[in-house]
Amino acid sequence: MVKAVRFYETGGPEVLKVENVEVAAPGPGEARVRHSFIALNFIDTYFRAGRYALDLPNGLGSDAVGVVEAVGPDVTDIKPGDRVGYLIGPQGAYSEVRVMPAAVLIPLPDGISDRTAATLMMKGMTAQYLFRQVYPLHGGETILYHAAAGGVGLIACQWARALGVTMIGTVSTDEKAALAKANGCTHTIVTSRENIVQRVKELTDGKGVKVVYDSVGKDTLMDSLDCLQPRGSLISNGTSSGSVIVDSQLLASKGSIWMTRPAMFHYIHPRPHMLDMARELFDHVLAGRIVSEPQQEFALEDAADAHRALEGRKTVGSTILVP
Ligand SMILES: NC(=O)c1ccc[n+]([C@@H]2O[C@H](COP(=O)([O-])OP(=O)(O)OC[C@H]3O[C@@H](n4cnc5c(N)ncnc54)[C@H](OP(=O)(O)O)[C@@H]3O)[C@@H](O)[C@H]2O)c1
Repeated sequence: MVKAVRFYETGGPEVLKVENVEVAAPGPGEARVRHSFIALNFIDTYFRAGRYALDLPNGLGSDAVGVVEAVGPDVTDIKPGDRVGYLIGPQGAYSEVRVMPAAVLIPLPDGISDRTAATLMMKGMTAQYLFRQVYPLHGGETILYHAAAGGVGLIACQWARALGVTMIGTVSTDEKAALAKANGCTHTIVTSRENIVQRVKELTDGKGVKVVYDSVGKDTLMDSLDCLQPRGSLISNGTSSGSVIVDSQLLASKGSIWMTRPAMFHYIHPRPHMLDMARELFDHVLAGRIVSEPQQEFALEDAADAHRALEGRKTVGSTILVP
């Protein structure tokens, strides 16, 4: 029996229960992974709260690193003893040990520790697909990026710096602003005391930006649209403050804006492409251009407290659960 977090109804953090569960032997195409660290992601709160549908009862989490203990009969490219991480696949990462489809496992390079890798799988791969696939940045652009001191945010700051991109990042406090700047964010806007649109116009000589990466959603949608140049792009990559509903006429009136709501799932397949994405991310880390360590750590049993901290905007950077 191993410890795992499960939930039987959607709701607040209190619905998360720690249980002892059986782990089956891996079947065809599967591998059993013993987790060293589990990563907390905002999407976990959407599943827990019922904003994203899931059959219940269920496990939670899609992002962890660990070591392969056993593989199914036909698995050839992953073997027992391999250090691996993952960010897609069935929910259930909040557990000591689990069985996963081997096809989603990403081998970890020797030069990257499990602790660092636990901050990279979902968050670093998200920065990769946002900056290199959804709206590819080449250097020289000025971008507006919301929640710059968050888990994806701190990696995005460093990736933008590595690309030579001028990043204007929003944060809620001066402490978060200092952290974002230390990670490469060029300018910060402290949303508790500064006007986002006014500051972006000041910083861009009145022109606005060509692209906004907006993971906050409801609270920032109108500001994001007002910060864009005509024919600019709104990348609506998350809804931490609530969902957005957009009338297409609004996009026309704000300047023929291009808007997309990207999901990782549509940018990560097939497997060789996923491994290429990971290689690009790992190369930045191995070269020291991206430095990433967990900023908060909770025991697996305290996953509910971790959710409270994340939803309460009390965290910066990455948060891990330790099994
Ligand atoms: N589309 C995708 O494929 C994809 C993949 C990964 C992540 N995401 C999204 O990217 C975002 C970042 O994920 P993360 O795990 O790294 O989380 P995070 O950025 O560490 O945490 C969310 C941050 O959003 C800001 N925020 C603004 N309004 C908020 C509100 N009302 N409630 C809570 N937070 C609020 C807070 O920063 P301040 O206090 O500084 O404002 C908070 O720290 C999430 O929206 C997530 O869903 C999307």
